[in-house]
Amino acid sequence: MARQRWASRTVFLLAAVGSAVGLGNVWRFPYLAGKYGGGAFLIPYLIALIIVGTPMLILEFVVGQKMQQGAIGSFRKLHPYAGGLGIFTMISSLVIVSYYAVVMAWSVIYFLASFGVQWSDNPKNYFNNSVLQISDGVNNLGGINWSILLCLTVVWILIYFCIWQGTKSVGKVVLYSVPLPVVLLGLLLLRAITLPGFLDGWRAYLNPVWSALVDPEVWTSAFSQIFFTLSLGFGVMITYSSYKQEDDDIARDAWSTAIINSAISLFAGFVVFGILGYMASQTDTPLKELAASGPGLAFVVFPEALSLMPLPWLFSILFFVMLLSLGIDSAFSIVEVLNGAILDQHKHLKLSVVSFWVCIAGFIAGIIYTTRAGLYFLDITDHFLTNYNLILAAIFQVILAGWIYGVEPLRRHINQVSDWRVGKWWNISIKYVIPIILTCLLATQLSKDINTPYGGYPVWALGIGWAIVLIPLMLFLLCLLNDWRRNIEV
Ligand code: PFF
Repeated sequence: MARQRWASRTVFLLAAVGSAVGLGNVWRFPYLAGKYGGGAFLIPYLIALIIVGTPMLILEFVVGQKMQQGAIGSFRKLHPYAGGLGIFTMISSLVIVSYYAVVMAWSVIYFLASFGVQWSDNPKNYFNNSVLQISDGVNNLGGINWSILLCLTVVWILIYFCIWQGTKSVGKVVLYSVPLPVVLLGLLLLRAITLPGFLDGWRAYLNPVWSALVDPEVWTSAFSQIFFTLSLGFGVMITYSSYKQEDDDIARDAWSTAIINSAISLFAGFVVFGILGYMASQTDTPLKELAASGPGLAFVVFPEALSLMPLPWLFSILFFVMLLSLGIDSAFSIVEVLNGAILDQHKHLKLSVVSFWVCIAGFIAGIIYTTRAGLYFLDITDHFLTNYNLILAAIFQVILAGWIYGVEPLRRHINQVSDWRVGKWWNISIKYVIPIILTCLLATQLSKDINTPYGGYPVWALGIGWAIVLIPLMLFLLCLLNDWRRNIEV
């Protein structure tokens, strides 16, 4: 069967931008900026974007496009023993999408609740007790929360119908799902700048606290945010670019994706801080506290701010439709990694059938997060996955491409097909800068986690987190050994 193709270059760009722009831009980026020095955070962020993020994106684009295969196949073409790295990224992808979809399920609940602004009395209580019905600790599973499970089913049905025909259906969906949240953000911005206090919000967003720059945590957060926001490490960009023609442009597409993604993050910052500025002026809560509220930002602080506005239901609906439309193309891009890799290996299988079973697997893997202890598990999984699996996958990739396959032939290929040339600096970034920085990130995180176990969770719960890192890692090593042994036998 002929390989699937994108309908046009624009469609590919939209799909790549759609994957990159997600909850990470609207929720994670603003709260990191709020927490780590306001305007000063932009410095490590932009440095990370230029010296690590974009070079890595260029790498994933060239690998997928040159090898014309998804994660497993491309790695195998880089080195015959490296297929196991594909298994590592596939398992990690399944885990990440399983909880990403649950966050979307919460958004569905909030969307429905927006019509009556049901959280307005006590947003925190609403999130914890009405939506999550959270148990008193990770030890107490407390049974399934059926409304989240129901919404999760809806989310997975939506995901399925976005991807069931591969690039054909994805190509149609992204024409709407990528511009829509940007338009909605624009509307929310217009709302923000007509409210009192928005300028104080912007001041808190942009005023640089220079002392933040000496804190290593600020730098590590900026680097891991860049990886997360550009959807790097899990094979998404490899899979997507493998559906391009071998001689399509690479460098310009990578720069465009990276720049558009960060521009949307910066823009989202204005919206979020504008509205928080308004909220601070209405509630006497310090802005700093609101912005640094972490995961609660999207589901506690923001809903509260929305409920204080005139026409709260309207802006709540806009906000949660925005979150859903932002999340959906990131979610299905991760499912595409699994589909792509399975179909490469089993060409006789039908795309719609593979998609169906992958969605079922993602749904089942997500059930644990729909229990009343779901938030705790989600927090643990997210911590280990973004700090270890993502970084490890990226380190393996740069070693494989930069040191084992060789970075120069890849750069030559990029320059043969691209309008914008990639200089020798790229080789240095792939071979030295990225692996060194990522290893430092990994070491810092590891020592932190060993000294103070994450989040004060019990040992068994953190054991699950470590298993999410170690099981795929062991499978990777087993595949490597197996490929090596088979090769010696022949
Ligand atoms: N880039 C997405 C965001 O910023 O929300 C998240 C994401 C998507 C991470 C796909 C990883 C991934 F493979």
